[in-house]
Amino acid sequence: MSSEPLVLGIETSCDETGVGIVRGHTLLADTVASSVEEHARFGGVVPEVASRAHLEAMVPTVERACTTAGVALRDVDAIAVTAGPGLAGALLVGVAAAKALALSLGKPIYGVNHLAAHVAVDQLEHGPLPEPSIAMLVSGGHSSLLRVTDLTTGVEPLGATIDDAAGEAFDKVARLLGLGFPGGPVIDREARSGSSIAIDFPRGLTTNRDLERHRFDFSFSGLKTAVARWVEARERSGEPVPIADVAASFQEAVVDVLVRKALDACASSGVEDLVIGGGVAANSRLRVLAESRAAELGVRVRVPRPGLCTDNGAMVAALGSEMVARGRTPSALDLPADSSQPIESVLV
Ligand code: KG4
Ligand code: ZN
Repeated sequence: MSSEPLVLGIETSCDETGVGIVRGHTLLADTVASSVEEHARFGGVVPEVASRAHLEAMVPTVERACTTAGVALRDVDAIAVTAGPGLAGALLVGVAAAKALALSLGKPIYGVNHLAAHVAVDQLEHGPLPEPSIAMLVSGGHSSLLRVTDLTTGVEPLGATIDDAAGEAFDKVARLLGLGFPGGPVIDREARSGSSIAIDFPRGLTTNRDLERHRFDFSFSGLKTAVARWVEARERSGEPVPIADVAASFQEAVVDVLVRKALDACASSGVEDLVIGGGVAANSRLRVLAESRAAELGVRVRVPRPGLCTDNGAMVAALGSEMVARGRTPSALDLPADSSQPIESVLV
């Protein structure tokens, strides 16, 4: 029998019902049922629709994950679940399912932080995370720079967005370009045939004055407005909107700031390892730019493969597995779902 723990992780913070199974750092199953198509016509996730979809998808997704991993539920050593942050009703479905499994199997439960899980998932691909590392988390709801000294306890926020999250900016710009939801993947695709220097969009919080107060913070709402104004002016002039150029130039503005600030955080903390996680980390330009600029500075960059960047259960299982490996005390069986769980609270 393997000495490494078998951990099942459940993720329901937004519109993905994710169930992952890991043994130690080895990924055995990553099963995701998404309700994204049910939200597309609203241009954003509708919380009640997401909760209902989680309820319907939970049992079949757990069953599929077990089949894929070739394990029975009774073999699982621990259950991990996203306790927050996220949509309250959606989180509740995952937490309730995890409690039911833990109680019926007589196994410990770990209620973990969704953001820390986005960082932990990289260990499944690239092995133990060097400590300390700088982590940049870029998703639909969050954009944060973190200094990680211990993935299970020591996550220190250095900065965050002061308005829109990076993924939110992708979603809003895609909507105004008529490209649909979610916006990140379509803009990424459109941008490939456009020019990133066609339009000089603003880089938020990068002037010397901004850097004094917001060195590691982000702002994307001014950029979104600049794109909207540019497109409106173009439409008024009667000329066609060059979608691919707008997409590429907008994407470059986001990615340029993200990479600049992440590498500045590494330099200022004397840390040579950067891990990038969250849905926006799937962006092809972000991955290339981070890699090339980091190489110039001697910083090592780790980014999970795109499928592990967007929300999934494997990330929760990965963080749960780390909790078990480091002997952390499990959560109480009456653990709450916390829609605004702060990043410093890695384990409930
Ligand atoms: O981490 P995630 O799946 O869910 C949250 O926790 O929010 O991130 C979803 C976000 C969406 O805003 C989506 O547009 C963005 O990640 N995203 C991307 C790409 N793929 C997903 N943004 C830019 N480029 C991509 N390829
Ligand atoms: Zn996420």
